[in-house]
Amino acid sequence: MNLPGITLDSVTLEYPCGTRALDSVNLHIAGGSAFGIVGPNGAGKSTLLNQICGYSLPTRGQVRIGDLPIERRTLDKIRALIGVVFQHADDQLFQTRVVDDVGFGLHNRGIPHAQAETVSREMLQRFGLTPIAEKSPFNLSSGQKRFAALCGVLVLNPQVLLLDEPTSDLDPRNRRQFLDTFRSLSMTRLVISHDLDFVWDSCENVAILDAGKVVAQGPTREILQNEILLRKHHLELPLRLQVR
Ligand SMILES: Nc1ncnc2c1ncn2[C@@H]1O[C@H](COP(=O)(O)OP(=O)(O)OP(=O)(O)O)[C@@H](O)[C@H]1O
Ligand SMILES: [Mg+2]
Repeated sequence: MNLPGITLDSVTLEYPCGTRALDSVNLHIAGGSAFGIVGPNGAGKSTLLNQICGYSLPTRGQVRIGDLPIERRTLDKIRALIGVVFQHADDQLFQTRVVDDVGFGLHNRGIPHAQAETVSREMLQRFGLTPIAEKSPFNLSSGQKRFAALCGVLVLNPQVLLLDEPTSDLDPRNRRQFLDTFRSLSMTRLVISHDLDFVWDSCENVAILDAGKVVAQGPTREILQNEILLRKHHLELPLRLQVR
């Protein structure tokens, strides 16, 4: 399949309070590739993700998924292409049982309830989450919430996957499992992370965002070895390089 890329042309986002969270951002993420976004707290990373999933529209500039510009009239089409797990997984879990949450998007697409439930249970099983299938999403640990949200996105088999801080509350074993899963996927993937080792292991290319601007982008193994560049933007070498 010809997977869509993600293009940002001079994207600026100003919040109503006047904060300019993104300032003329230009980026291109090739279809089918994995791309990392790193940067300090408050750099504009989550704001960037909101522009790419159409959660909010830029003040100036344009975002395109493949050839499709993100505009009010294209939002339904865009949402059918994109799966997103937000930084705070609480924001996207709201059913009474985890299995219903995972199947919610399928149900919305007209898949019969029984079929949606079967697919959802299979996905939960893949992540070892069968024991929590009947629980309320509100009573999960934060790592479990994150996996539940991810399952709800993966069952929809999106062409573009956007993840905001996916490993921030995973234990080492789950982080490893998540990394293996992420690497096995073939859709266009964008991951925002403070976990530079995760980005090192999973993304071909990376961009550093600071104060709303892309200050560097290129091959992950070049950018994330540049200690002077990283330090300038409140980042550190991936741990594996520090040990060396
Ligand atoms: N809804 C909002 N209204 C006003 N300002 C906002 C809003 N959301 C974020 N901001 C501001 O926009 C800037 C970028 O925030 P954003 O959440 O995108 O940063 P981030 O890079 O994701 O940070 P973190 O690593 O802490 O998650 C910050 O200065 C923040 O205070
Ligand atoms: Mg954020």
